Amino acid sequence: MEASTVLKGQPIYRRARAVGINPNYWYPVFWADQLKPEEVVSVRVWESSLALYRDANGDVNALADACPHKGVELHQGEVHGNNLVCPYHGWEFDQ
Ligand code: FES
Repeated sequence: MEASTVLKGQPIYRRARAVGINPNYWYPVFWADQLKPEEVVSVRVWESSLALYRDANGDVNALADACPHKGVELHQGEVHGNNLVCPYHGWEFDQ
């Protein structure tokens, strides 16, 4: 059987975004060399917001950009060591 490169009359590259994101793959969202130590940025991936931050070890981390306590945007917080601190009540999160 041959793999089809056409879905419903359109080339497959035009239909790829219609199938959604696959959480088992890597997707580029930000340039790693532009994320400075202890910096936090917000990125949008598909329909989700993520808070990216570089921790004290120099590792890049990604968390959902909503505190599980009250939904406050975590990208507004600060990095303490390897954790991202919620700007509202100060709970700390890591991966
Ligand atoms: S809202 Fe984030 S710790 Fe309470």
